Amino acid sequence: MTTNPKRHLVTSALPYANGPLHIGHIAGAYLPADIYVKFLRMCNEDVVFVCGSDEHGAAITLRAKKEGITPQEIVDKYHEINKKAFADFGIDFDIYHRTSSKLHHETASEFFLKLEENNVFEVEESEQFYDEEYHQFLADRYVTGTCPKCANDNAYGDQCEKCGSALSPTELINPKSTLSGKSPEMRTTKHWFLPMNRDEQWLKEWITTGKLDGVDQHIPAQWRNQVQGQCMSWIDGGLGARAMTRDLDWGVPVPLKGADGKVLYVWLDAPIGYVSATKQWAADNGKNWKDYWKKDENTHLTHFIAKDNIVFHAIIFPILLRAHGEFNLPFNVPANEFLNLEGDKISTSREWAVWLHEYIADFEGKEDELRYVLTSIAPENKDSEFTWKDYQSRVNNELVAILGNFVNRSLVLTQKYYEGTMPALGELAEIDKKVMDEMGAIPTRIAEKIKAHKYRDGLAAAMTMARLGNKYLADTEPWKLAKTDPIRVETILHISNQIVANLAIVLRPFLPNTCGKLNQFLGQPELDWSHAGKSDLLAAGQQIEKPSLLFAKIEEEQIEKQVEKLNIRKAEKEKAAKVKPVLEPKENITFEDFQKMDIRMGTVLEAEKVKKTDKLLKLKVDTGIDIRTIVSGIAEHFTPEQIVNKQVTVLMNLPPRKIRGVVSEGMLLMAENENGELSELRGSDANSAGDLIG
Ligand code: 2FM
Ligand code: ZN
Repeated sequence: MTTNPKRHLVTSALPYANGPLHIGHIAGAYLPADIYVKFLRMCNEDVVFVCGSDEHGAAITLRAKKEGITPQEIVDKYHEINKKAFADFGIDFDIYHRTSSKLHHETASEFFLKLEENNVFEVEESEQFYDEEYHQFLADRYVTGTCPKCANDNAYGDQCEKCGSALSPTELINPKSTLSGKSPEMRTTKHWFLPMNRDEQWLKEWITTGKLDGVDQHIPAQWRNQVQGQCMSWIDGGLGARAMTRDLDWGVPVPLKGADGKVLYVWLDAPIGYVSATKQWAADNGKNWKDYWKKDENTHLTHFIAKDNIVFHAIIFPILLRAHGEFNLPFNVPANEFLNLEGDKISTSREWAVWLHEYIADFEGKEDELRYVLTSIAPENKDSEFTWKDYQSRVNNELVAILGNFVNRSLVLTQKYYEGTMPALGELAEIDKKVMDEMGAIPTRIAEKIKAHKYRDGLAAAMTMARLGNKYLADTEPWKLAKTDPIRVETILHISNQIVANLAIVLRPFLPNTCGKLNQFLGQPELDWSHAGKSDLLAAGQQIEKPSLLFAKIEEEQIEKQVEKLNIRKAEKEKAAKVKPVLEPKENITFEDFQKMDIRMGTVLEAEKVKKTDKLLKLKVDTGIDIRTIVSGIAEHFTPEQIVNKQVTVLMNLPPRKIRGVVSEGMLLMAENENGELSELRGSDANSAGDLIG
């Protein structure tokens, strides 16, 4: 284990280029990484910070379908939007790359081929969900259903976002195709599987003790408890095999014969995106990318992610890196929990989110305010919550009232008494020595917290510097001594301005724009961390600019507007969800086609719910010529008791079809009114304009 690494490679999860970024993304994987990197750079460490767009997988193709444009158009659009939002927010990546790039495709293909050469995969035929209407296998997000672990009804085929479980589509209860909305069929297909059970032993040792092949890699205590906990619960539950290929036409093609129409699994290809991003950065900067990736305990690889990505970064990617043979494993994976918003989970689909690009537009020049609040409430150990009221109160009571107020008082008094010339340091009183000592001790405390990925505490420690300054001015009251003891006032303002100069250093990882302003007021260059805590940063006689206000109060109407915006969007979404999409009229059929339908009246003899489904009833229907079983999707409209003995209209000559294990021999025809209520189709109903429901 090394405490003084030679190099750092820092990664932030590659966001899907399928939509804009919101504050939950920022608080989870980007802002903490940026603070860490800014700090390392200030310590003159060799650090590369990579990120980019994750441009493959069902997340992209489904969004493209929704917007009616191609996957390439989707990723081109959101790559630019997100890259700009990150830059505007001061997230300082060395490179923001793309997984649709040629270099990434080459890198991912080579990586896969090396794994294949090392006999890492098992090729197997298996049954997978298939949408007959769309002629497509349904991988991952193409299937939704109920999570078998937490009963969330909207779990994806690869993952439940509610409980974070990694799933496979067949584990879902009541699976539905996201293409046709129908229950999928099963079909056989071939895939390259990563068996993970053989890795359980070394993973367990590595995650709990930090040892890999007997060598210390990290201090396990530095891994967050919940990250270790999640990993161990997966490993203890037994690691199954996971398919590393998919039947899709968007992604990195599987570079092997006999794999036509198959692409790499997005969770194989995306983390390799960190490697291709490093390659591109190295090529652009005359560096060797391998220096940052080769096995070396002196290079620290740190993955910043949110909790739903833990399994991929702390289990699957390490297995792949190790199986490849030439790569370093992560030193730490400081995953964050989730950030909620105004009492509810942030949701892209429900548009319950504060979008980063909108914040930047609505609160021009207030990026640091959001950085401050998001760091103060960072969901480091448990889920946390952003509310606009809390945002207002933190900005007004902390940034304005403590930091801004102190800086303003110190610099304005310097203007007032000395026309902006830094006064000299005179004889030191006890209180001066104490303040200078305390100032000297703060940077170490901040550094310890940042190195331990405790950014909330790090920021709180940095703010103690501003509190110290405020208290010092309140205790010494230079404004009262100006007439009676001007020499003493010079010393007080000298020390107070040195505190301001220190704030410009220790707050820089957190509030870069504010510190840029402070440096400008003070005529101070950007100083590295080794200067932090010193009492001689500013020389007597140097000129200090007239300051402008660092922060303005957030007014009530500003936050009311934001809350209103959220509520309006929520109401619109709810309304839209109630409006049934108008179906396209279908092509005309011939009268002969119509005549082919054998429609008869029948009587329901028996009815029961089909197990593990919400919508299906299994009926026994007397049709006059036989008694047959029909599975019908009417369970949300009729209880079994309500439908028994009812007369129903039956379409008799549909081929029998197996639905949830039951062979259905026909279809009930019903009419739906404008409220979505069903009624049996009889007599005059048959002429009504309702939809026919099978
Ligand atoms: O969860 C996500 O948004 C993924 N796009 C993260 C990928 S991280 C890495 F593996 F690239
Ligand atoms: Zn779940």
